[in-house]
Amino acid sequence: MPNSIQRAVEVLKAGGLVAMPTETVYGLAADANNVSAINKIFSSKGRPSVHPLIVHIAQPELNMASDQQANSVAWREILSQWSRDVSPEALILANEFWPGPLTMILPKAKNVLLEVTGGQETIGIRCPQHPIAQHLLKEFGGGLAAPSANRFGRISPTTAEHVREEFPGDDVLVLDGGPCDVGIESTIVDLTRLDSHNAVILRPGAITQTMINQALNRNGDTDGIAVNTASTTSTSNISVPRVSGSLSAHYAPKTKLLVYDPKNLKSLFLEINGTSGLKQLAWVHFQNAQLDKKSGKELKLTNVVKELVLPVESKTLARELYALLRQLDGLNLDCIFFEQLPDGIEWDAIRDRLGRASTGSGM
Ligand code: TXA
Ligand code: MG
Repeated sequence: MPNSIQRAVEVLKAGGLVAMPTETVYGLAADANNVSAINKIFSSKGRPSVHPLIVHIAQPELNMASDQQANSVAWREILSQWSRDVSPEALILANEFWPGPLTMILPKAKNVLLEVTGGQETIGIRCPQHPIAQHLLKEFGGGLAAPSANRFGRISPTTAEHVREEFPGDDVLVLDGGPCDVGIESTIVDLTRLDSHNAVILRPGAITQTMINQALNRNGDTDGIAVNTASTTSTSNISVPRVSGSLSAHYAPKTKLLVYDPKNLKSLFLEINGTSGLKQLAWVHFQNAQLDKKSGKELKLTNVVKELVLPVESKTLARELYALLRQLDGLNLDCIFFEQLPDGIEWDAIRDRLGRASTGSGM
């Protein structure tokens, strides 16, 4: 085992915190069964204790020939340690998307600490794909509770350097796994209310509602599993989950972030150019001609000290978004003007983050 992983396991066993790379964002990990370690997460992040944490688990030995039934048995075994009611839907989604950027909300098992679940009867659980996260989880031999490794409400970290910026002291051991590939947090799907609702997305991410529905319908048809109907045991006494990522202000830079509609470019530019407080601006936009529709003349924003052109691929922007916001935030400008994202389901998760970042910005 590499020294860094060995050291990280020792820190975790002793109740300390380790920043762990995942394919989505870096997580601030602690032993999910150790109350004082969990409390350290909340105090380090400045996170209110009612906001639940996601428990990360190691991938079980899976059948490479994709024997769904054998793999379902393996997933059920590991999930049963954390959930008292592992539904067929949970197994289908585990088979389809794990390891990967999907978190499932399930009814929690009795032994799961209420400190981890924010006092709720449900648990958020995810099997991450990043090889270092997997290696760490296997060597640790238990579940790791890990929120994103940033101060509460701030931009999630997608590099080890970002984590060090968030936690400059020596209290957190940082494992460097390079830049995160997905770049925004996992999709969260609620499977605790299947008796009254379908699989409900609480936080959009790389795995879309369409992908989830397709997986459930396809497997439900072929395996004769009744999906999206009655759950095996009633979980209807579980209240609607609270999700801190659902706060309207989150993932936020300190600099005011304004998302603009390119249709109103002329009036917006006039207004901005005439506002005396906006002396130093960043302008982030797609590679469109910024033209006045009537005169055909190019519209100009004055006082732009930093201009960035956005990638056309949603996956690329997701990967780069948080680093980009951090970079711009570090320039201490008066405002970041950010062109609204295109329509389309592939942009939904990034649009969600950008909207919350904008709401929480400038504070
Ligand atoms: O991609 C990710 O999910 C990253 C990496 C590190 O895995 N983690 C992450 O954790 O984004 P965090 O704590 O920043 O966001 C987790 C979200 C929170 O909004 C929390 O409220 C929600 O998951 N969550 C966790 N357990 C839940 C539960 N039992 N019910 C409802 N929401 C839950
Ligand atoms: Mg977070």
